[in-house]
Amino acid sequence: MSGFSAEWLALRADADASARDQGLAALLGDHFEGRSALRMLDLGAGTGANLRAIAPLIDPPQHWLLADRDAALLAYCEPAPGTTIERRQIDLAADLSGLFDPAPDLVTASALLDLCGADWIDRLVALARGCGAALYTTLSYDGREQWRPPHRLDAAVLAAFHADQRRDKGLGPALGPGSHAHLAATLRSNGYQVFEAPSDWHLAAPGDAALIAALAGATAAAVAGTIGADRANIWGAARRAAHRVTIGHRDLLALASN
Ligand SMILES: C[S@@+](CC[C@H](N)C(=O)[O-])C[C@H]1O[C@@H](n2cnc3c(N)ncnc32)[C@H](O)[C@@H]1O
Repeated sequence: MSGFSAEWLALRADADASARDQGLAALLGDHFEGRSALRMLDLGAGTGANLRAIAPLIDPPQHWLLADRDAALLAYCEPAPGTTIERRQIDLAADLSGLFDPAPDLVTASALLDLCGADWIDRLVALARGCGAALYTTLSYDGREQWRPPHRLDAAVLAAFHADQRRDKGLGPALGPGSHAHLAATLRSNGYQVFEAPSDWHLAAPGDAALIAALAGATAAAVAGTIGADRANIWGAARRAAHRVTIGHRDLLALASN
C-alpha cells in the first residue's frame, strides 16, 4: 500500500483537472502533432488521472505504461479511447531504469514530484535525456497556501507541514515544495527547453467542502507530531470549516533539444 487511497484521489480529481494549466497542455499536444504510435510512461500513475487528462490531447494510437507501487490503485486504470495500457507494479526507488526500455516518448507524473529527493530527480532527468523523451509534470505542490478566514496557527502549521514534506517517502529525502524548482533547474542544465506555469487549487465551500475538510484533516495529522496534538486539532477543526483555500502547484513541460 502507498498511503494514497482511491477515495482521496477521487476526491481531488475535479480540483486537479481544473487546476492543470491549459497552455502547457496545448503545447504538449502541439509538440506531438502528426506523430502517432507514441509510448507514454506515467510515474506514480495511481488510478490513471494523467492518462485521462493527456490522452485526448495527442493523436492515437498511444501505448501507456502505468507505473505505481500500489496494485490496488493501478487496478482502477482503464484505457482511454485510442490507447493501450500496461500496468506495472513497481517501487520507483528500486528500478527506474527498467521503465525506460523500450524508450518512452513522454515521461509524465502528476502529484508525485514533491515526494521525490534530489538524487532521484537527477536520475530521472538523466534517463529521460538519454532517450530524448519529453517530460510533463503536473500538480507539484510548491508550498504556497492561503486559508480563509485566517487562523492564528496558520504560520506554525505551514512551517511544520513543510518540514513533514521533506521526510523521506521512499524516494530519498523529499524536496517537498522545492522539488519543482530542482527539476526545472536540472532539466535546463541538461539542455532541455522548460516551460512552467502555476496549477493552483482554488477551493471554495460549499462546493469543495469535502475536499477542504479532508485536506484540513490530513494536514493536521501530518503536523501533530511537530506542533503537538492539541494545537493540530484546534487548527484542523477550524480549517474543516474554511470558506476558501488556495494550494499552490506548478506544472512543467520540458522538451529535449536535439
Ligand atoms: C498523490 S498520488 C498521485 C496519483 C496520480 N498520479 C494522480 O495524479 O491522481 C501519488 C502516487 O505515487 C505513488 N507512489 C509514491 N511513491 C512511490 C514509489 N516509491 N514507487 C511507486 N509509486 C509510488 C503512490 O502509490 C500514488 O499512487
